[in-house]
Amino acid sequence: MRLSFLSTAIEAEPADGCARLGGPIKFLGIDTGTGGTRAVIIDEDGLVIASGVSEHVPFARPHPGWAEQDPVDWWKACGLAVRQALQISGLRGDEIGCVGFSGQMHGAVLLDAEGEVVRPALIWCDQRTDPQSGALAASPGTDRIIQLTCNPPLTNFTLTKLLWVRETEPANWARVRHILLPKDYVRYRLTGEFAIDMADASGTLLLDVASRKWSAEMLADTGIDRQLLPALYESPEICGKISSSGAKATGLAEGTPVVAGAGDQAAGAVGMGIVRAGAVSVTIGTSGVVFATTDRPALDPRGRLHTSCHAIPGRWHVMGVTQAAGLSLRWFRDCFGAGPEDGRDAYDRLMTEAETAGPGAGGLFWLPYLMGERTPHCDPGARAALTGLALTHTRAHIIRAILEGVAFSLKDSFTIFGEMNVPVERIRLGGGGARAPLWRQIQADVYGHSVELIEADEGAAFGAAILAGVGAANWASVEQACEQAVHVRQELAPDPETVALMARNYVLYRRMYPALRSAFAR
Ligand code: XUL
Repeated sequence: MRLSFLSTAIEAEPADGCARLGGPIKFLGIDTGTGGTRAVIIDEDGLVIASGVSEHVPFARPHPGWAEQDPVDWWKACGLAVRQALQISGLRGDEIGCVGFSGQMHGAVLLDAEGEVVRPALIWCDQRTDPQSGALAASPGTDRIIQLTCNPPLTNFTLTKLLWVRETEPANWARVRHILLPKDYVRYRLTGEFAIDMADASGTLLLDVASRKWSAEMLADTGIDRQLLPALYESPEICGKISSSGAKATGLAEGTPVVAGAGDQAAGAVGMGIVRAGAVSVTIGTSGVVFATTDRPALDPRGRLHTSCHAIPGRWHVMGVTQAAGLSLRWFRDCFGAGPEDGRDAYDRLMTEAETAGPGAGGLFWLPYLMGERTPHCDPGARAALTGLALTHTRAHIIRAILEGVAFSLKDSFTIFGEMNVPVERIRLGGGGARAPLWRQIQADVYGHSVELIEADEGAAFGAAILAGVGAANWASVEQACEQAVHVRQELAPDPETVALMARNYVLYRRMYPALRSAFAR
């Protein structure tokens, strides 16, 4: 018999009196990232049982600053990752009780009346929409947009991408009947539902973030038809079930319920237990994000941070974004190589090399603005810079400067948190930047604060699986789930001497963008 939380068939009554549907149930989280898709299966205590990954085709850059991906590629990767996770776990599809989603935020997936993709998705880091963002800043105006949506117009937000397609490709726009975000396209292929969660919808610039509903005013001001948008849900809410075609593609069972899930940052925060005010996470993936939970929609009047709904009903978060965090290091690796092969991973070799240059990178600084910058500059025209080069510098200094420069850029978000009185009591590190011991020590020293690492290293997919468990009533709330499922494995103290050096260097770092801005603009 199919076991499902939507089904009423209770097969067993365990001794503790708690009704279970056919024995222990597992939960699956699927994260549609930029580089690949990850599927994670957890048990009812929140322990990771298995995970699967499948790489995506690297995003296309048909022009400088453009970034596009084919949504069908994400769907194929979902099938492969889920099958791999199921196979490793040894579970049958019908042992998965509920599915949750997370994914790269902001991307515009455009579907026609038949549900076919109209054109490649413009993804989060695409910077082509500066004219549309500028036009929105003029009318309806930045102040009104912040008032309506809690955020200023920026090239990353989905609305600017919609306006670009409407203005530049009217024939494509005329065919659009559904607008989805990346993970929601995957959900659509799995279930046939057009749905989105509050956290991901916050990154569209069309959500009234304070009231958690689509903004009728923003839709009217910009002429976007509400009918094109998906239905809104809170992250742990059940919003559909796996269809027969979804089941065929993944090995999951038809009828399995799915929850709304969350954009990758909010889901990642859940996976790191960042669910109460005072808890902050720093995640270095392709981008870098500093994320703080708040009890209210806290606003930066200058729009340097994003204010969004959290994946927890009645809670919000603020986050600062470094566009090219892990991407800075990947760029170095791709252009200049990872040094002599010694059988180890390329990033491990880069870290070993960087260790030979001491703290401060011999006076070299890296501004990580390879794809423009969001926090704190909100400047898609910003460009990266390596400053202070001398004959004495080596590859090692450059790699170390990149690691430190990304951390300085993330520290800018903490500086703004301070201005806004957002409390920072504990910092947890996640993403690739947390895996390398050198980069985590650099982060502790640059932030001048101890940092924690958690046991499950599965990122947003783990958070998505937790949300699935809450949707299936395995836990009463996201907070309760995190208490049981998220555990700190290590705490790392900053080194006082290096903290002092990094504080001095941060002052210098902060002077560089203002000095270069006019040159970037030209
Ligand atoms: C957050 C953001 C990125 C993407 C890619 O605002 O743009 O974190 O979600 O992961």
